Amino acid sequence: MARRKYVVGNWKMNGLSAAVADAQAIFAAAADHGGVDVAICPPFTLIGALVAAAPGAAVGGQDCHSAASGAFTGSVAAPMLADAGATLVIVGHSERREGCGESDADVRAKAEAALAARLAVILCVGEPHEVRESGGAIDYVLAQIAGSVPDDFAADRLAIAYEPIWAIGTGLVPTVADVAAMHGAIRGALAVRFGGAAQDMRILYGGSVNGDNAAELLDAGDVDGALVGGASLTAAKFVPIVAAAAAL
Ligand code: 13P
Repeated sequence: MARRKYVVGNWKMNGLSAAVADAQAIFAAAADHGGVDVAICPPFTLIGALVAAAPGAAVGGQDCHSAASGAFTGSVAAPMLADAGATLVIVGHSERREGCGESDADVRAKAEAALAARLAVILCVGEPHEVRESGGAIDYVLAQIAGSVPDDFAADRLAIAYEPIWAIGTGLVPTVADVAAMHGAIRGALAVRFGGAAQDMRILYGGSVNGDNAAELLDAGDVDGALVGGASLTAAKFVPIVAAAAAL
């Protein structure tokens, strides 16, 4: 099975009602670029509105709880996301691993909950700057993969997003060679654990992706798409990334 390119917008804590029109414009323009899967993960508050405004479009959450329901004030469960019309969810973003103290075990439990709710999963990993500087980035990321990727899932239901923490929102981007080396190492580790199914799993790159650098990043070995933050907020910035993916 050839891996289709996958371009996903992570809106983080951005977007009021007026942003629904931006999502509509993004999905409409993305539809002109065949062969690429496009998704937007808005704040929880906008999921229902985006699903209503863009029927059939892929809309996702940015996190979920590992429990299906219960006394967890402020949290959102995976079945709730599915009920709202979401078809995917991001888990293990570094802003949650670092800011909310989420461990690999927590991320794995969230991924398992999401899969049980029939959501596709984008599971994030990535090293801090000092680890990159010390030469330990690949070992660090492979340990995150070992600890946070569940054992049992269909290969097309779980994607990995490699997001070096120091590249997120900074304008700094690893070299294409470093991205390819990391993605190759991730693919290798997945192959050891999951055999041939690893060839069907998508590995996205995230961290300061924009319309200018998307083509060369998306063309790197074992890069199957992009997880985009800041440049996903408007059609003017996001659609060129989708177009770059479609052109490959
Ligand atoms: P930026 O594209 O803003 O660097 O964010 C990347 C990211 O964290 C996506 O999840």
